[in-house]
Amino acid sequence: MKRFLENFPRESVLIMVCRSYIKYLNSIDSTNRYVRDEAWQLRKEADEADIVAVVAKNQTAGRGQRGNVWSSEDGKNLLLSILVLPHDLYVREQFLLSQVISLAVLHAMRHFGIDAEIKWPNDIYVGRRKLAGILVELDCMSEFVDKAVIGVGLNVNQASFPVMDREPVSMKMLSGYEYLLAEVLGKLVESFEYYYDMLLQGKKDTIAAEYKARLKGFSAPMLYSDGNSVFEAVIKDVEPCGRICLEHASGEVCHYSFKEVELLL
Ligand code: BTN
Repeated sequence: MKRFLENFPRESVLIMVCRSYIKYLNSIDSTNRYVRDEAWQLRKEADEADIVAVVAKNQTAGRGQRGNVWSSEDGKNLLLSILVLPHDLYVREQFLLSQVISLAVLHAMRHFGIDAEIKWPNDIYVGRRKLAGILVELDCMSEFVDKAVIGVGLNVNQASFPVMDREPVSMKMLSGYEYLLAEVLGKLVESFEYYYDMLLQGKKDTIAAEYKARLKGFSAPMLYSDGNSVFEAVIKDVEPCGRICLEHASGEVCHYSFKEVELLL
């Protein structure tokens, strides 16, 4: 086990027991942007550690899915980007990375007594409220993933959020407890290592099966919108590429890519 810590707040250091290289930044525009641009420098710093994690206390231009902004109160939440170079992962299998990080977040949350679920493709929800968002950004070399930046915004200690359509929630709002960010980070990175190792060992079917088992609406009727209509359907499967297979009330099974359909909560 090897551990590298740079500028990490002193009270956190003792808790860190995972094998990854973790770099702490006080403030940055976006940890995903930083990790993507500085990947080769970070790899050098990380020495033989195969997982690099960059965590920031604050982001000034956090990136969300669909070009949205990810906002977070300074010092309240976990803003993390993980860099991996998974060598023999085909681009067509990239969704496994979303499954790995989603399962890692759920696993870490269970450690803190929080029972979360995945909202397809990779949002982390408790009931109808979003606890964490995930943004996976890839660089590919022909048919293989060359470099993957896996961004996680996990709401930890923020006590309230601006009014939005769908209200976010934090770990503190769910439990009433204030968490040590470094402890949450340690558990999340450790959980990621566990599931990423499963991927490296080729246990893709196990990952996919566990992902489906933790997916909201798997084998249960829920309401969806495809932009034109709202309909009830059941998730029958999620393809390795990430497409969702929904069985409509008529019995017809339709396949949807990300952005083509949304689960309504
Ligand atoms: C979403 O829209 O649900 C995805 C949000 C992802 C936010 C995280 S915060 C850390 C990392 N850096 C970024 O700029 N975005 C991700």
